[in-house]
Amino acid sequence: MDPVAALGEYQREALAAIEAADSPESIEAVRIEFLGKKKGRLRELQAVLGQVSPEERPVIGKQFNSVRNAVQTALESRQKQLSRPKQAADALDVTLPGSPPQLGTRHPVTQTLEEFRDIMGRFGFLVVDGPELEDDQHNFASLNIPEEHPARDPLENFYLATAAIAGRGLDEPPVLLRSQTSTVQIRVMEHTPPPVRIVSLGRVYRPDTIDATHHCMFHQMEGLMVGPDVTMAQLKTVLQLFARAYLGEDVAIRFRPSFFPFTEPSVEVDMKWGDIWLEIGGAGMVDPNVFRAVGYNPDEVSGFAFGLGIERFCMRRHNIPDIRWLYENDIRFLQQF
Ligand code: DAH
Repeated sequence: MDPVAALGEYQREALAAIEAADSPESIEAVRIEFLGKKKGRLRELQAVLGQVSPEERPVIGKQFNSVRNAVQTALESRQKQLSRPKQAADALDVTLPGSPPQLGTRHPVTQTLEEFRDIMGRFGFLVVDGPELEDDQHNFASLNIPEEHPARDPLENFYLATAAIAGRGLDEPPVLLRSQTSTVQIRVMEHTPPPVRIVSLGRVYRPDTIDATHHCMFHQMEGLMVGPDVTMAQLKTVLQLFARAYLGEDVAIRFRPSFFPFTEPSVEVDMKWGDIWLEIGGAGMVDPNVFRAVGYNPDEVSGFAFGLGIERFCMRRHNIPDIRWLYENDIRFLQQF
């Protein structure tokens, strides 16, 4: 056989076998077959080449070496590939870039609450809390809401089946989910001598029909300031400053005459935000009957109070058209804040 052709055939076959090998065992078999020192095919070739004429020998010898080197290199690289342990499909690849943890954000209502607390705190109002489960005394009686007042109607409130509460009898005063944060005014004054300057932010509950602007639970911010001569002008100033701090300089507020049992005189508060007048709550001068109910002397102190709806502000600022979106916990909505 022509030695050059024999070399070419050897190389082709060797490289094909190397590529076809698919395990450490099969590549070892290929190595023995093509490069084995004792009786591999390379040895056979060497024997054939030994017979070429002395003139041809240097040329053929060179070719022999380069074929051997090529096969050797290919074999070694395939050996390396096959000796690497196969990565299990679900193995942890620590070299992959990590997936960053998704950070949550605070609920838009929580953000509003925090901002309100912050603003009122800067004005020197102490932030206090009150219970959501209330009694008749704090939700109504001490707030000068008489027995027959429609605000006490069972259809307007979430009264609890008090007999089911351990230790309470059927004849004890009713317990309800508070319908307003004004309850906290009473709780504070009961325990604190004047002067008083507080705000209280929290949930209130009413069995309203739920629609785009009503829910059975929402939030209010209650404010109360009592002292020797607190005036309505101060009430308006505080609300004006509050509106500016939250909404910006170009905000106007206005009072409209109104009625609440616990204030006299009473007003509805509107804020002009952009082109829109928004009704944001009620306010007024604390009624003398409320002072009497908590043991304050109405001849010695005066005070103002206000109660603002928090969702209103939050919805207007973020352009949220439906209050229900705030309480559906849809992540696609909440992610935007
Ligand atoms: N509690 C009233 C309500 O829920 C709002 C309110 C009005 C609170 C006048 C006040 C106030 O403190 O002075 O509708």
